[in-house]
Amino acid sequence: MSQNDIPRRILVTGGAGFIGSHTAVALTEAGYVPVIVDDLRNSRPEVLDGLERILGHRVEFHAVDCADEEGMKAVFKTPVHGAIHFAADKAVGESVEAPEQYFSNNIGATAKLTQMLRKAGVQHLVFSSSCTVYGEATALPVGETAPIQPAASPYGFTKQACETLLGYSHAAGQGELGIALLRYFNPIGAHPSAEIGELPIGTPANLVPFLTQSVAGLRSELTVFGEDYPTADGTCIRDYLHVCDLAEAHVAALQWLEGHSGAMEAFNLGTGKGSSVKEVISAFETATGRAVPHRFGDRRPGDVMAIYADASKAEDLLGWRTKRSLEECLADAWRWQEKLA
Ligand code: NAD
Ligand code: WQD
Repeated sequence: MSQNDIPRRILVTGGAGFIGSHTAVALTEAGYVPVIVDDLRNSRPEVLDGLERILGHRVEFHAVDCADEEGMKAVFKTPVHGAIHFAADKAVGESVEAPEQYFSNNIGATAKLTQMLRKAGVQHLVFSSSCTVYGEATALPVGETAPIQPAASPYGFTKQACETLLGYSHAAGQGELGIALLRYFNPIGAHPSAEIGELPIGTPANLVPFLTQSVAGLRSELTVFGEDYPTADGTCIRDYLHVCDLAEAHVAALQWLEGHSGAMEAFNLGTGKGSSVKEVISAFETATGRAVPHRFGDRRPGDVMAIYADASKAEDLLGWRTKRSLEECLADAWRWQEKLA
């Protein structure tokens, strides 16, 4: 067996979740072998059936907490080429109610996992960070060198803390573990097959799942949080990107790490274009022909007015940029919602 024939197993923690499941598809399409570790605290086992229908085979799956060293032994029995660490709790509001849970699962588990990766001699780690590390950006579009603002929530703090922790781990290992910190803007959409997508458990906190559930009649209407912002149409601006574009960025980051042994860099992942809530509603209506029942309500506490990415570093270094339009994102999100409803 030559070096090229050795399967490149990629540990995907949180791989049954929204972004992780789409990344498992992109990894497979690029010739990697995803190995999903997910204790299903925020996902369902049916995701693995959806993946099987897309890929034509069952993905290796371990239903364990990624911080459980004993449970993770089975994963490391066969060599692991790289890891993508998605597993985390991600609800901003919940993090305010249960900060201890967020510190423990997001920071604690990242520390444990990184220790395991270093012990196993894994060379590449891609970490799920967030544009939330920038807070209310002082200049737009926001680049990677923008100041990291004091966190607006315990969740946001955990992403900042993990980035710092990984910086120390990188230094301690003298670069043996190369690390890419991926700062996602607003991922939306679903796989065009509608076999996998976002599965919000309970009432969705994010715009697009709330919007699609409102159109499906599961919610009476969408409340647009604030129409009095000093933006062109009064509503907040975000950088929405298709989850399949985001998934492909993970493959690009992994390939970049393979070619830049021991490097550590942060990358913004977004389209580079801001869209307002009103524009999202109108793009949804254009893409699907369905009206979005909505009303205008108060501002949501903690919301930043506008943020969108300068994603040129990802384009220059990773050769990655988004390919799918906002309409495509919303058409795919709707196809997925129709299947769920
Ligand atoms: P998700 O909740 O759909 O997926 C996370 C998965 O991790 C879930 O399947 C959950 O069961 C699993 N999990 C959580 N803790 C675990 C643990 N200790 N061990 C094993 N499995 C565990 O979330 P997502 O939207 O796919 O987000 C993935 C990552 O991206 C998270 O780190 C999140 O903070 C980050 N992120 C998400 C967004 C977004 O808008 N979705 C934006 C920026 C960053
Ligand atoms: C988008 C826009 C709302 C719901 C959050 C986290 C962030 C990141 C992504 C992980 C805003 C408006 C929303 C609704 C609305 N996650 N909205 N009515 O706030 O950009 O970011 O998810 O890292 O950390 O904070 O995303 O989808 O909640 O909101 O009007 O019912 O939609 O005000 O302008 P957000 P979102």
